[in-house]
Amino acid sequence: MSDGIAVILGTRPEIIKLAPVIRACEENKIPCTLIHTGQHYSDSLDSVFFDQLGLPDPDYNLEVGSASHGQQTGEMLIGIEEVLEEVSPETVLVQGDTNSVLAGAIAASKLDVDLGHVEAGLRSNDRKMPEEINRVLADHAADTLFAPTRQSRENLLAEGIPDSRIEVTGNTVVDALYRNRELAAETSTVLDELGVDDREFFLMTLHRQENVDDPELFEALLFGASRAADKHGVDVIYPIHPRAEKRLEEFGLDVPEPIRVVEPQEYLDFIRLEDAATLVMTDSGGVQEEACILGTPCVTLRDSTERPETVSVGANVLADHDPATIIASVDQMIERDSDWENPFGDGDAGERILQSVQPQLEVLQP
Ligand code: UD1
Ligand code: UDP
Repeated sequence: MSDGIAVILGTRPEIIKLAPVIRACEENKIPCTLIHTGQHYSDSLDSVFFDQLGLPDPDYNLEVGSASHGQQTGEMLIGIEEVLEEVSPETVLVQGDTNSVLAGAIAASKLDVDLGHVEAGLRSNDRKMPEEINRVLADHAADTLFAPTRQSRENLLAEGIPDSRIEVTGNTVVDALYRNRELAAETSTVLDELGVDDREFFLMTLHRQENVDDPELFEALLFGASRAADKHGVDVIYPIHPRAEKRLEEFGLDVPEPIRVVEPQEYLDFIRLEDAATLVMTDSGGVQEEACILGTPCVTLRDSTERPETVSVGANVLADHDPATIIASVDQMIERDSDWENPFGDGDAGERILQSVQPQLEVLQP
């Protein structure tokens, strides 16, 4: 067995949220093998984030690509097991709730390698979402559970996971944002390129399977978002995820004005847009968190959230799928003062996670 860490990732949010852990390994000279499953492979969801976040190229890329849930997860499991047998890491880290996380968690636990789950304990309590099943299974396979908040720790305790395996670290999304927010404000030209002014547009992302794979639901969400923006006289910038783009074409849906579909954005441009938007509408987990941290009001286009902290502090409301509720939620949130607290930690989560798996490093206080 080597003394290093293997970090498994596969999608856009994992690259962003594991960047602080990978950087902490580099700064502390801890060997770190990067295993990319290839779940995301388009440059706009993958390589642009490695470039912009200054990450090393993956040591392994399994190039699994897109497929049904079972096939994709199964191919990842086979590939990850082979790499772990070759590398023999002391610890495997996975982050979040994608199919890459599930495959990584199963592979590590079958080989009896120590498994750490970053962003453990989130629950939407909606078992129709593939992400909910992935995160529950990964949590129950993990040896160490890095819960971002006290609420996520409580969720794990309620499922019988012993307290001794849980560490509340904060969310690495804060580390990434704190490191890049100023840089984005200084260097990004995205507002000029899109022809929008600070605080005079809405930003929207919509890509979750349960929303965009259902034509009626997708159409209702687009309609609600467009009417809400029209009422306030602003454009909606919608950087479109390839899943949603594919569904729009397949269903023959027109995107109503004033929604403007644009390419998926690079990280710095995207956080500049989040920071500058009057309001964010989203079904993304990471975007709900980032809007809350940046002080931009958020309307979540779902009927559940695994980020209830954003709602409790007053940064977010659930609008469900009904256009009238979306319009009312936007009216409510647009008036809100954005002086809520950031519930996701102090920006040292990556360092804390590394110290937990490499206890010889100097310990930061939780
Ligand atoms: C996955 C995660 C979701 C996460 C999202 C982050 C699961 C079950 N879902 O959803 O939780 O919010 O990533 O963005 O793991 N495609 C491309 N290029 C790519 C990748 C995908 O064009 O690089 C297209 C393909 O048509 C593919 C579709 O997007 O069929 C869906 O990709 P997939 O990885 O299955 O799920 P996501 O919707 O990306
Ligand atoms: N993001 C980005 N460009 C975009 C849309 C999102 O850089 O066009 C970033 C965003 O800053 C956040 C992450 O992608 O950190 C969220 O990923 P996504 O919404 O794909 O997944 P989820 O968080 O829902 O799992």
